[in-house]
Amino acid sequence: MSRLIVVSNRVNPPTAAGEETVGGLAMALAAALRQYSGLWFGWSGKTVPTFTGALDTQTLDGVTSAVVDLEEADLEEYYNGYANKTLWPLFHYRTDLVAYDRVYGEGYSRVNRRFAETLAPLIQPDDLIWVHDYHLIPLARELRMLGIKNRIGFFLHVPWPAHQVFTTLPRHRQLVEAMFDYDLVGFQTAEYLQAFEEYVLVEAGGAQLNPDTLKAFARSLKVGAFPIGLDAAEFARMLHSPKARRMRDLMTATTVFRHLVVGVDRLDYSKGLEERFMGFERFLADNPDMRREVLMLQIAPVSRESVDAYQEIRGRLDALSGRINGEFADVDWNPFRYVNKNYRRDELAGIYGAARLGLVTPLRDGMNLVAKEFVAAQNPEDPGVLILSRFAGAARQLTDALLINPNSPEEIADALKRALSMDKAERIRRWRALFDNVQREDVTAWRDAFVTALAGVRVKRTALAG
Ligand code: F6P
Repeated sequence: MSRLIVVSNRVNPPTAAGEETVGGLAMALAAALRQYSGLWFGWSGKTVPTFTGALDTQTLDGVTSAVVDLEEADLEEYYNGYANKTLWPLFHYRTDLVAYDRVYGEGYSRVNRRFAETLAPLIQPDDLIWVHDYHLIPLARELRMLGIKNRIGFFLHVPWPAHQVFTTLPRHRQLVEAMFDYDLVGFQTAEYLQAFEEYVLVEAGGAQLNPDTLKAFARSLKVGAFPIGLDAAEFARMLHSPKARRMRDLMTATTVFRHLVVGVDRLDYSKGLEERFMGFERFLADNPDMRREVLMLQIAPVSRESVDAYQEIRGRLDALSGRINGEFADVDWNPFRYVNKNYRRDELAGIYGAARLGLVTPLRDGMNLVAKEFVAAQNPEDPGVLILSRFAGAARQLTDALLINPNSPEEIADALKRALSMDKAERIRRWRALFDNVQREDVTAWRDAFVTALAGVRVKRTALAG
């Protein structure tokens, strides 16, 4: 078996089962690597005055990680800049928030080059290289320039936007051309794959050679949809851990006589938090008879705090949560708990297990693994109901959730009412279908499908240089 090298911006080697917090990518990659004598390469999360390329390497739980520090300017122009002020809002359809700044583009290219130069000496001839997410789109191009001929795959964890949205990006063509230096490019859903294909056919004048092969820029590229899943076996174990049980008991004790509604998201404008808060407010206003039966808990650890848009949304959410409690709280009851703390995954599993309703309503989301974790944590004999945005990639698989339009607080309020009134037979029927999917299409199935497809690509390549 070839060695697998995984490359992602953020590298979170597991410290101990369950200690990792919100963020599906890190969990999935750790799970994916455990089966291989693999290497996980990326940014350390730290900065130094001058880039040195020095590697910090450690092995934990069978996963070897090698991380490198970046410069202050890299953090500003690559991570806060092109990745999180340009590509992130663009790929999540927030063109109003996109910053088009050449300096960011230069920082993005520079860091991808630095990653390639640091990684290249570690690569052995048979290694399979698997690059992850929007931070690293041009990495294969940079590696090819250094003479690397290995099979290289790329997986995009976030949505690929519609053609009309993507072309608002200056130099959009260069970005897609760089993707043709990979051997395989994977997306979360068939819908994102189609949007990419449309760009290649319409904008780049490419051709579809067969259902999984595109041709453009004088090269061919394998493409596919590979929906990411949970480490279902590990999650099931975690659910019975002392920390998960304790949290479930604690939550049950603090919600006596009430149904717990739960949301867990990084504090990000793509997650639809404002609309969700307003949907809950609307439900309270419209249903005075049901009001005191519920308690909503929203966990939203702060994220990307140096980016203005994230600071602004935080302020708006603070005000909204205060307004809801100010309007509806009573001497013995607060309808809304809003918490900006980060929790361990085993504790979150306990919280999901105590909840009657999961509210997962992103405005756009590549997949959303919180939806799958909520399903996996339910009691089969008395399961809760998942309310899920139709714009999360997960909605393509979890079709037995209550699917809603997350832009509409009214639809959210109606779905809350429907879910709270749903009889046990319907809850069980829906949950069984959801759980079956979460078990079947898990992280192992995702990894195996991608790695098998990558290993199977026939390569005819001459290196660009080196
Ligand atoms: O899946 C999207 C993503 O950007 C991942 O790449 C990342 O691990 C996660 O969200 C958290 O974001 P960040 O690394 O910027 O904190």
